[in-house]
Amino acid sequence: MTQIDVHLTPDYAARTLREDVRAGLTADAKWLPPKWFYDARGSELFEEITRLPEYYPTRAEREILQARSREIAQLTKAHTLVELGSGSSEKTRLLLDGLRDHGTLTTFVPLDVSESALREASDAINADYPTIDVHGVVGDFTAHLDKLPGDSPRLVAFLGGTIGNLLPAERATFYRSIRDVLEPGEWLLLGTDLVKDPATLVAAYDDSQGVTAEFNRNVLRVINRQLGADFDVEAFEHVARWDPDNEWIEMRLRATSPQRVLIPEVHLEIDFAAGEELHTEISAKFRPERVEAELSTANFTPTAWWTDPQARFALSLWQAT
Ligand code: SAH
Ligand code: AVI
Repeated sequence: MTQIDVHLTPDYAARTLREDVRAGLTADAKWLPPKWFYDARGSELFEEITRLPEYYPTRAEREILQARSREIAQLTKAHTLVELGSGSSEKTRLLLDGLRDHGTLTTFVPLDVSESALREASDAINADYPTIDVHGVVGDFTAHLDKLPGDSPRLVAFLGGTIGNLLPAERATFYRSIRDVLEPGEWLLLGTDLVKDPATLVAAYDDSQGVTAEFNRNVLRVINRQLGADFDVEAFEHVARWDPDNEWIEMRLRATSPQRVLIPEVHLEIDFAAGEELHTEISAKFRPERVEAELSTANFTPTAWWTDPQARFALSLWQAT
């Protein structure tokens, strides 16, 4: 059985996009939040990124899930698997297999801002896992966590390293909000990409085929379509840079010539100087100590920390205290 709840309605999405565009593009250092990459095309581009030779995180996390899903099922005995920022839920099938084979799982709750990705994934999982109820939620994981269905014990999975796309203060708020909706004893499974040599990191975010560049520019296409803007998308070049102090990759879009952009729906006229950069995403990379410190501050206790054989990526399991 599949059911989809839509908390991120077109009205809500339009209002929050307008607010973000107004705040971000009128700031001295221009910025946009990364959640607006993910219209249907953005979700497809992300899936393409996961198959690139340079983009190792998806493969590394899959290796860990292949090795550990059975153990995760034994430890958590989860009745409900919630997946935040679920996208295609492809790797999640490994967890679903482990939990189904263990005999405890009744419900899968994928949640994503991308309605197309969510519906496609929910239908596919429903077809392949007939004994599991799929209860999808179109929502924002920074706003709609109180709406999660499903019986206890729940396991909340946040995979792919998407936690790294939140700023440190946003991460703290996000961990707290997850903790607030969990009962003591329920579970969080967290995927984090690890600090490594900058050349490997930059290559993963500046691939030779230019797919990540297209993904980055897609946010301008979303604003053109949704807000009637006239960004000349090809006049912005993709920039991916390692920030060693913050230990994150920064993605930006750099205007290759002076640009004036009209955004009628928010009554804005925005000027870009030649070379000016618009900040579109951070992708933080972690050390175990930082993950441990942030999660314990949010009242989670560590149960397990696993990496792939090359120690590129970590999956960690936490229990709400
Ligand atoms: N978990 C998948 C997809 C990662 S891509 C994987 O590991 O491959 C990040 C996903 O998070 C996308 O599907 C995107 O639509 C979703 N996303 C980004 N910001 C979000 C937000 N604020 N709320 C809900 N989903 C979000
Ligand atoms: C979804 N998220 C974990 C990706 C990342 O690696 O930060 C998004 C991405 N941005 C560029 N490439 C992939």
